[in-house]
Amino acid sequence: MITLNIEKTLGFISKENVYAYEKQVQDAQEMLENGTGLGNDFLGWLHLPSSITQEHLADLKATAQTLRENCDTVVVAGIGGSYLGARAVIEALSNSFAWLQEKKESPVILYAGHNIGEDYLYELTEYLKGKNFGVINISKSGTTTETALAFRLLKKQCEDQRGKEMAKKVIVAITDAKKGAARVTADKESYKSFIIPDNVGGRFSVLTPVGLLPIAVAGFDIEKLVAGAVAMEKACGKDVPFAENPAALYAATRNELYKSGKKIEILVNFNPKLHYVSEWWKQLYGESEGKENKGIFPASVDFTTDLHSMGQWIQEGERSIYETVISVEKANHSLQVPSDEENLDGLNFLAGKHVDEVNKMAELGTQLAHVDGGVPNLRLTIPALNEESIGGLLYFFEKACGISGYILGVNPFNQPGVEAYKKNMFALLNKPGYEAESKAIQARL
Ligand code: PA5
Repeated sequence: MITLNIEKTLGFISKENVYAYEKQVQDAQEMLENGTGLGNDFLGWLHLPSSITQEHLADLKATAQTLRENCDTVVVAGIGGSYLGARAVIEALSNSFAWLQEKKESPVILYAGHNIGEDYLYELTEYLKGKNFGVINISKSGTTTETALAFRLLKKQCEDQRGKEMAKKVIVAITDAKKGAARVTADKESYKSFIIPDNVGGRFSVLTPVGLLPIAVAGFDIEKLVAGAVAMEKACGKDVPFAENPAALYAATRNELYKSGKKIEILVNFNPKLHYVSEWWKQLYGESEGKENKGIFPASVDFTTDLHSMGQWIQEGERSIYETVISVEKANHSLQVPSDEENLDGLNFLAGKHVDEVNKMAELGTQLAHVDGGVPNLRLTIPALNEESIGGLLYFFEKACGISGYILGVNPFNQPGVEAYKKNMFALLNKPGYEAESKAIQARL
């Protein structure tokens, strides 16, 4: 189970002030439960883990099996909430070098539709030449430009390479029940499709087919992932006392830190496999809280790698930051530092120690140094990198985000600011329907 330790924030803020949020947290919990807060038509994620049925999981697993049997490579096409959750879980659980191994146990998972890089897409389509690849096309709106553009390329290549019939078998759509271009195409081509519930926003959708299908295709146990989330749903429930509820405590502590002038939260890991969990987390908190000229700026670093780059800034730069460290209790593998007769590198004092022990001392040493340097530290501990822990971690962050956004006083479930660049891009590209905007924007150039 996940534990949260806020002790190392207490020289900067007081426990009393953190605990003073108890009533606000309770109010936020009630707004979520009763649907009385802002964005209440997007609360489908709240009890999603415990409402997932065995039939639904079986359907996802059967579809994943079809892709696993017929594809050596599967491209997940999606952006933002429509790909980050899947990538976070897959990268946290995968062997870092699995895709380089000759004999693979699972299809290689690649990603597209999350950028408009011509070189990226060219190189991807080149790589896919001769591959037995499939596509999971994920878009709630079904109209997102980045994803639609990549899917147009991938669909054609898949049909050309694998034939129309096989393409129908290895292209799966995850989209709205009725609207959007992805739905229209899926129905016309008779693709297997899954629905993204209306009341679940993109960044809260990892436990819908958006995350679960790619994760199952990659060979991971989605039942255990969901079980971890169910356990966390209980641990963060409305009736769990404030001091024992990690989501309540996290939401309260970060709001108190924000109030005290700490405007930037850096999510820290000491395990490179957690890189995309941080990317997912940044989207979750950035889109949920960054509005109305408010909100903590969510940043992330991978330690110890970034101790050799961002470490300097964190230790001695402007004191507007705090850190939340995700600490993984136990490594999944065992590797000891070998002894060396010559000891030219002077590392024999570590001989016989596990690499993780060295990493843990780096973690502890960093925490103490950063606290000494004026950076409050929260520590989230998870037992290991496995499906249960990651499922729990994701739900923990979702629940805390809902509570935290309501404490901040914003609607945590919309993202109006995302539209601004789209409007300009369409105007600049002369999209039909944008004639007035095109004229106005041209006049500004
Ligand atoms: O969280 C969100 O709502 C967004 O990040 C979306 O997930 C993202 O913009 C992709 O949208 P769509 O799934 O409609 O293609």
